[in-house]
Amino acid sequence: MRPHTCLLVSSLAACGGAESSAPPPAPESTSFVAFARDFEGFESWAAFPLGVGVPAIGEIEGPRTVYASRLPAPGEAALPIGTRLVKVIGDGPIETRQVFAMAKRGGDYNAFGARGWEWFELERDARGALTIDWRGISPPDGTSYGSNIRGGACNECHVEQGAASDAVLTPGVAPAAR
Ligand code: HEC
Repeated sequence: MRPHTCLLVSSLAACGGAESSAPPPAPESTSFVAFARDFEGFESWAAFPLGVGVPAIGEIEGPRTVYASRLPAPGEAALPIGTRLVKVIGDGPIETRQVFAMAKRGGDYNAFGARGWEWFELERDARGALTIDWRGISPPDGTSYGSNIRGGACNECHVEQGAASDAVLTPGVAPAAR
């Protein structure tokens, strides 16, 4: 007979794990909520310099670089929960650069947009200390990136252009399952 499987950490004590000295296996994560520390040091991740592009509405001018905490494996249709992607625009003093990010939160989060992804704008001070400016399924009203129609500018471009690549648009970072 198949042994009973415990799905919730809180139920482990109720199914024999309590007496064992071995630590229980880490449950597979089903959701990920990013904190500022999860983006710290992103400049040491895989980097994709994209050069200077035509700025979209709300973007500053300057070279763009995309950083990925993880890259898709060949044939992988979507990036896993916990993946973080960062896009930096500008090469002026560090605190003047625009820093956008997305983190794979998982489940039904942002179900009507880029499914599973949470959007962020990050900020750094002159010493590079990183904070989260805003987060969610769309930028707050009055934030300038794109237009705030159809429930969120981030979803708009990323869902439309990234329908087959898990809403990720940078070549090399975007999953390309066949
Ligand atoms: C006008 C279309 C457009 C809008 C609106 C937009 N993006 Fe993007 N985004 C892009 C494109 C195109 C790329 C690919 C890199 C490049 O060419 O700049 C990209 C790349 C990114 C990346 C790197 C991962 C990837 O998909 O390649 C992040 C992170 C990101 N955007 C965050 C955001 C956030 C956060 C918002 C909303 C505040 C947003 N984007 C709104 C077009 C857009």
